[in-house]
Amino acid sequence: MKKNITTMFLTGFLFISTYIQAMVPVESNLPANLIQLKAQHPDCELLNKLSENYDVFLDVYKSCNYQFWSGCGSYLFDGVSYAYCEKMYEKQKLFYETAKKCNNLLEVGVYMGHSIFIALLANPDLEITCIDIDDHYSGPALEVLSQKFNKKIDFIKGDSIVELPLIDKKFDMFHIDGHHTSYYLNAEFLQCLTKCSSEHVFFIVDDYDSYPNTINKLLKDNDVYTVVSFIIPPCSWCNIMIEILLQQ
Ligand SMILES: C[S@@+](CC[C@H](N)C(=O)[O-])C[C@H]1O[C@@H](n2cnc3c(N)ncnc32)[C@H](O)[C@@H]1O
Repeated sequence: MKKNITTMFLTGFLFISTYIQAMVPVESNLPANLIQLKAQHPDCELLNKLSENYDVFLDVYKSCNYQFWSGCGSYLFDGVSYAYCEKMYEKQKLFYETAKKCNNLLEVGVYMGHSIFIALLANPDLEITCIDIDDHYSGPALEVLSQKFNKKIDFIKGDSIVELPLIDKKFDMFHIDGHHTSYYLNAEFLQCLTKCSSEHVFFIVDDYDSYPNTINKLLKDNDVYTVVSFIIPPCSWCNIMIEILLQQ
């Protein structure tokens, strides 16, 4: 009799724990730093959506044969190990909040599609055109994102300086995260200015600390635009958001 009660108790326990695990399959994959960050910011939409869709971050890695360019990071990992990097939370959030307000994104520098992933979490209806000189990682990564979000992402393989002048679409959000040199940034910025869908647009330039002087020059009002606002978030490898009003 005692044996039967113990067996019943164990069976019940196993059933309940299996049921609970099935209810939270994705959460159980979450790394400790993301769980901790979520606990610190329980109302953060980005962190909640990223946690719910963390499998996509892992699927992208799988699609890239569990490889990446050593030393080349993204918005979500540091380029040393493929793991969520909480040190970039503030710039991830800035990117997320900007994408929420926009309709058409043009991105230079795709890599493993992590910034596009953040943009789509923020705004699944966002139209996206992106350029990368190399499709070794961006190819499979964008396929995963297209499938997951059930949408077409226009990808152009080539050098931004060659490809940007050939694009005949207009955008209200620009993300410059490609070659990371002053020469390229200036050329890309100028090209993007010719592709604004309205007089009010948003630029995000990644890696502010690589060329602060070049970026600070872009913050000066001129004949083409005035800068309405800009934000440099306090985090590692920070980006900058520049809100621009084009002169009529
Ligand atoms: C830092 S990664 C981009 C990271 C990505 N935005 C993210 O956060 O997920 C830089 C990417 O820019 C690309 N790139 C470098 N020079 C480029 C160029 N001249 N034109 C287009 N893409 C370029 C590289 O191939 C690389 O994939």
